[in-house]
Formats: sequence, structure tokens, C-alpha cells
Amino acid sequence: MTIHVVEHPLVDDVLAALRDETTPPSRFRLLTKQITMLVAVEATADLPVRRERVRTPLEEAEVRRLAADIVLVPILRAGLGMLDVMLQLLPNATVGHVGLERDEETAVAREYYRKLPPLQERIVLILDPMLATGGSARAAIGLLDEHGAKDVRLLSIVAAPEGIDLLATHCPNVSIYTAAVDRGLNDQKFILPGLGDFGDRLYGTQFG
Ligand code: PRP
Ligand code: URA
Repeated sequence: MTIHVVEHPLVDDVLAALRDETTPPSRFRLLTKQITMLVAVEATADLPVRRERVRTPLEEAEVRRLAADIVLVPILRAGLGMLDVMLQLLPNATVGHVGLERDEETAVAREYYRKLPPLQERIVLILDPMLATGGSARAAIGLLDEHGAKDVRLLSIVAAPEGIDLLATHCPNVSIYTAAVDRGLNDQKFILPGLGDFGDRLYGTQFG
């Protein structure tokens, strides 16, 4: 497993506003798109390209075009906040949806939805802003694996050491890209300092 923490002043600034409990859902959704784009730049830095020639208004130029088949897999529901901007960057990507929800008492993830396009020979980008215990990410990676995915990358916004350790143990081939690694989890398995329940902050549902 490899972990890439995206270090950049723009990331820090957006993250500060995401963490702020007074940020309303409308702004939270915009900030989510901005930070997703910044993490995506790092997560796609090694995608294959092919050389082509185009004519500019002045002369012929050698250019490089993306030569990768990408599948985006947002984990419902919080991962949906990252999807639109990823589709703007990668308009030819296909999209698979996976619904996972942590039990409020046990924090164990339960799968309630799965609809996936073909994954063989594709680069799969999982979109899930929070890596807490790692249970959801492990379940998602496991089911993508069952469907034949080989190159799987997790795009996260805040990760906890506990989740990173879990993936290091059980998902050795995955690459994690995140904007921050926080201190750890509280008794309810929320990330500290974190930013609360990402889905609730995104959609204005109750936190607590
Ligand atoms: C959140 C988050 C992750 C998961 C992370 O989803 O979006 O999927 O928790 O926690 P874990 O690493 O301990 O599994 P949640 O289950 O709250 O569902 P929601 O997105 O529908 O709110
Ligand atoms: N899921 C969230 O949305 N936030 C946390 O802190 C942990 C899991």
C-alpha cells in the first residue's frame, strides 16, 4: 500500500474551511469539489498518455492525450460530493456506485447498493472523503477486487492512522491519496479533529 498526502497551501486553505463547523452545506459542497480537484491532480499524475500531433493556429504541435480507461466509484453517500468535479476532469470515465453505511453503534460498514461497469484493464478511482476505521474502504476494495479491478486508488480528504493501518494490512496493492492524515478516532469512531460526519455536512442532515 502507498499513501500520498497532498501538501499544498491551497489544500490547507480549503481544508480549514471544511473543518470549520460554521461552514454551511452550500459552501461545504463547493469546497469539496475544490479539494477533490487538488487531490485528483496527484492521484492521476502517472496516468498513461499517447503522443499525437495537432495544428495550432500557428503550426503543428506534438501533444499528449490521456490514454487510460478510468472508472470512478463514489461510495454513497458522501463520495457523491466528489463525483461531479471528477467527471469534469475525466469526462470519458465510467461510473460505478457502491452504497456502504456504517452502523451507528458498531461503526461496521454494511453494503446496501452495488452497480458497477466492467473493471478489468481499467484504473479505478474510489471516491470517499473519510477514511476512519477503514472498514468501508476495505469492503469497497474487496468487492472491486472480486469484479477484477487491479489498479485501485482511493481518493480521500481526511484519513485516520487506524484506517491507513487497516488498508496496509489487508489491501497491500491499493494507493491512497488524501489531503490530510489526522490524529486518530474517538470512541464513536469519528476522526479527530476531523470535520464531523461528511455526509451530514454535505447534505444538511443531522450530526450527532
Ligand atoms: C462515512 C464516510 C465513509 C465511512 C468512513 O460514511 O463517507 O464511507 O464513513 O468510515 P470507516 O472508515 O470507519 O468505514 P457513512 O457510513 O457515515 O455513510 P454516509 O456517507 O451515507 O453518511
Ligand atoms: N465518517 C465521517 O463522515 N466522519 C468521520 O469522522 C468518520 C467517518
